[in-house]
Amino acid sequence: MNILVIGGSGGLGLELVRLFCGFQEMVSVTATYRTRQPTLYEKRLNWVKADITEEESIVKLFEKCPDLTYIINTVGLLHSTEGNPEKAITQLEPDFFIDNIHVNTLSTLLIAKHAHQALKKAPRSVLAVLSARVGSISDNRAGGWYSYRCSKAALNMAVKTLSIEWKRALPNCAVVALHPGTVKTQLSAPFRNHIPDSKLFTPEQSARWLVEIISRLESKDTGKFIAFDGSKIEW
Ligand SMILES: NC(=O)c1ccc[n+]([C@@H]2O[C@H](COP(=O)([O-])OP(=O)(O)OC[C@H]3O[C@@H](n4cnc5c(N)ncnc54)[C@H](OP(=O)(O)O)[C@@H]3O)[C@@H](O)[C@H]2O)c1
Repeated sequence: MNILVIGGSGGLGLELVRLFCGFQEMVSVTATYRTRQPTLYEKRLNWVKADITEEESIVKLFEKCPDLTYIINTVGLLHSTEGNPEKAITQLEPDFFIDNIHVNTLSTLLIAKHAHQALKKAPRSVLAVLSARVGSISDNRAGGWYSYRCSKAALNMAVKTLSIEWKRALPNCAVVALHPGTVKTQLSAPFRNHIPDSKLFTPEQSARWLVEIISRLESKDTGKFIAFDGSKIEW
């Protein structure tokens, strides 16, 4: 089994890489980073530098891993030096909105565009992307966070649309969006003061739940939006 974790340098991404490296049946793990390569070294782990908003970078990445069973895209943006999630529409900045679309939505579309060949051979394969419950339109009760919400809602639409196309083109593949819960990483750090400890997870805990879900996915699960506890989220 060959596994590709995109965004292996992130809080959740690194824990997923660590867990996959412990898989008995694992043949290799390829993990990407954009800025700094993490100091995790394992015999069957390959680190590749990639900026997945650049199509050329994705093409080169798939040249290095032509045969895959799981592709997990963990890359995400909520805040950066360029901007923060909006509390009101008056705070919307076009450049920050486009950055969110690039990282949170376009990345998965570009990965999917070039992943078909690599996933073709496996008798059971998975393309899983880390979305967020706030990307659910029907679950939106609090409002705000226009850029992040819109980019994750668009990501969800991409997942659903791809799952329909690949039912014919890649019938062994489950294409799913996963919600990891609220996890203690740099992404959530400025926004979790009001969250009770019972609803706040460590990256390791959340990654364990996600790996369990991914390991059990079958092609009939394609097109689902699934939370860390296995429950289904409405789009
Ligand atoms: N943490 C939470 O509470 C939470 C809740 C719901 C959903 N999620 C989702 O879960 C995913 C993982 O989140 P996290 O908490 O682990 O975040 P994180 O620690 O901030 O990790 C984000 C990752 O995205 C990578 N990245 C950002 N822009 C990139 C680009 N253009 N090209 C390549 N890599 C890029 C970062 O790489 P570099 O570090 O190299 O820049 C990093 O590996 C995200 O999609 C997030 O939206 C998280």
